[in-house]
Amino acid sequence: MREIRVGLAGLGHVGSAAASLLHRTAEGFVRRFGARLTLHAVCDASPAKARGLGLPRGVRVERDWRRLTADPAVDIVVELIGGQDPAKRLVLEAFAAGKDVVTANKALLSRQWPEVVGAAQAAGRRLAFEGSVCAGIPIIGSLARSLAPNGIRQILGILNGTTNFILSRMTCDRCPAGAALREARRLGLAERDPRLDLDGSDSAHKLSVLASVVLGRWLDPARVGRAGIESVGLDDALFAVEELGRTVRLLGLARFEDGPEGPTVEARVCPTLVPLRHPLAAVHDAYNAVMLETSEAKDLMFYGLGAGAGPAASAVVGDLWLLAEARLGGRAAPPLLWAREGRVAVRKPEDCLGRFYLRFQASDRPGVLGRIAQALGRQGVSIAHVHQRSRSGSARTVPVVLVTHAAPEGRVRRAIEAVAGRDGVSRRVALMRLL
Ligand code: HSE
Repeated sequence: MREIRVGLAGLGHVGSAAASLLHRTAEGFVRRFGARLTLHAVCDASPAKARGLGLPRGVRVERDWRRLTADPAVDIVVELIGGQDPAKRLVLEAFAAGKDVVTANKALLSRQWPEVVGAAQAAGRRLAFEGSVCAGIPIIGSLARSLAPNGIRQILGILNGTTNFILSRMTCDRCPAGAALREARRLGLAERDPRLDLDGSDSAHKLSVLASVVLGRWLDPARVGRAGIESVGLDDALFAVEELGRTVRLLGLARFEDGPEGPTVEARVCPTLVPLRHPLAAVHDAYNAVMLETSEAKDLMFYGLGAGAGPAASAVVGDLWLLAEARLGGRAAPPLLWAREGRVAVRKPEDCLGRFYLRFQASDRPGVLGRIAQALGRQGVSIAHVHQRSRSGSARTVPVVLVTHAAPEGRVRRAIEAVAGRDGVSRRVALMRLL
């Protein structure tokens, strides 16, 4: 019976779950394809992690990832180390050695897209990365294959499980953000460096991967407008529900337009106030959701667990089956990647229109609200409504919330800069978009 051999690097939460799932589904693979897909070797800087995983006998355990790329018996390398280095060297060396690669590394893919994709194409090898975005939700395969005849007009979604978990706990249980983050880490949802979740980087990486799949060109995540949830307080989350009939979600948006010179993209990640009746408001905890606007299939919504070892392992092993099937058939896997020449024009975030929620902490004395309103007025930003709560207890400041009419983001930010940290207005201002 033919055998396809896998070398898996990285035995963290996802790597361990993927190794176990590969083993548990081995018989199913044989039944379906009449061939074996076996775990040949695993590798981790702490090889002791392999103990207790119940790996089949005979699986080699290595400390050095080079032992996987240099092993001619390995057909497919799975990169689950995360981060940039040595993950990038592992992937490039695997392609150079004639192996196919599965990765769930959104930070690597999004930041090194041209080099990684270029290396796969130059070597004539395959790269699969379903696990890099929204874990178990099959969004990449859907965009790249099932929806290929469509023009994709917009991607809008909750792309990070950790921040959604935190925002849900804040809104539903009045749990402070810090305690909710600790719980998310304990559940294995957060990145090793959770700042990547909180500051919107992880969502921007995922949006960049999705947009690059749609465009066939690289959307550099550095060009995605990005704001995280650090300035969103418990008060904001509760105020939004109680007074505005909305809830806070960290949304990623990519809107695609065809222009004479090629595609133009509006791309950003920011905390957004979503009406309570909107489907994204019903996405709680570590769940993710992606809404697509497409030319033929029209509106679609994908929903599922966007973080956690089990869902990510499902995507990784699904990719392994896909690449193994292609190897057995001696044909190319259905392409996840198609590359077009040329640059993507990205709209500057400051030019993008939106309605905004601004929360200032201000001294409760004459003229302070006037100065804030004046700063917005000077930038041509019109105020739709204002809320000021009365002072509670010994607090020296009161929250002042303003909601604007549609305005370019740059003008709203300039108005904030003009007043924040001066004359009775605190330095930190919570800024969110309204959907
Ligand atoms: N930290 C990520 C999240 C893990 O919370 O979504 C899945 O990519």
